[in-house]
Amino acid sequence: MTTPQFTPRVFSGIQPSGGLTLGNYLGAIKRFVQMQEEGMETVYCMVDLHAVTVWQDPADLAKNTRELAAGFIASGISPEKSILINQSQVPEHAQLGWVFSCVARMGWMQRMTQFKDKAGKNAQNVSLGLFGYPALMAADILIYHATHVPVGEDQKQHLELTRDIATKFNHDYGVDFFPITEPVIEGAATRVMSLRDGSKKMSKSDPSDASRINMTDGADTIAKKIRKAKTDPDALPSEAAGLQDRPEARNLVNIYAALSEQSVDAVLADVGGQQFGAFKPQLAELAVSKLSPISNEMARLMADPGEIDRILAKGAVQAREITAPILAKTYEIMGMVR
Ligand code: AMP
Ligand code: TRP
Repeated sequence: MTTPQFTPRVFSGIQPSGGLTLGNYLGAIKRFVQMQEEGMETVYCMVDLHAVTVWQDPADLAKNTRELAAGFIASGISPEKSILINQSQVPEHAQLGWVFSCVARMGWMQRMTQFKDKAGKNAQNVSLGLFGYPALMAADILIYHATHVPVGEDQKQHLELTRDIATKFNHDYGVDFFPITEPVIEGAATRVMSLRDGSKKMSKSDPSDASRINMTDGADTIAKKIRKAKTDPDALPSEAAGLQDRPEARNLVNIYAALSEQSVDAVLADVGGQQFGAFKPQLAELAVSKLSPISNEMARLMADPGEIDRILAKGAVQAREITAPILAKTYEIMGMVR
């Protein structure tokens, strides 16, 4: 439950560690825009300090940060209505991150599946930051006293940890200072899967470019990737239940539903009985019609990186009006001499 005395505030972040994918758009950004339009106070962040938990070439990091900002704006995030920032320009994130790395317990962190996936067999040789990553994520959220966090399904465990950290801090210091944040994981595409393997998440870090749709892909590339997407030989069912053991078919239908803003059942009422040879071109046409205005606008914005930098600088000033007092109060609660 959200603690009632906290005014609703939305925070979410995306790593500038590569291009944006359709998974980011449907799982996260589309919802970010809706929450902004619902009139909630919204803060959206390019989490560059999270990105460097694995090696980032400096020139690429700068380019990816600006491109991600362009992607946010082109998708409908308005710098007038939302606070748009890159994490490293708001130092209170990292400062509270340190505090939370002293609140979180080793055992909690060792359970994080994203760390286990990312570290793989290499756990002794990954950065300490990759292990501590979720404590910084909790700080991103709680330094705004954010009450709602829209994310894709893969972030659920990190949000539970955020709640655990807030609860432990409040308990240890005998305060009711940090809100217990609500995850917002909603819609037909909270987990968009790889186009090549229905058991794997669509990801910007997948070595196969054919596995994902990038927000910057042109119409021909999108159509080709959808045409080549892995499917099974059967026709589409007429009801959602018929997709149960068909991960690839389910993924394409979910994408269609999310892009067209319909329920899966409504989509299947239309396309049930069709073969993929007929369905895929319709999906490609829909994807191109939704994504190409965004990629065109991204390209236009990227032509003026100075303007993006000005937007992020202004966002940082607005953000710090919120974060500086919350950090100061946190330190005071902890007994840090001010
Ligand atoms: P990341 O790119 O890992 O920083 O993720 C940014 C946001 O996009 C998070 O809210 C993720 O949960 C979401 N996201 C990333 N990949 C997917 C996917 N394949 N399906 C749905 N949401 C995703
Ligand atoms: N961990 C998130 C991801 O990989 C990105 C992120 C960092 C985030 N800080 C956040 C998401 C705060 C929501 C809120 O997708």
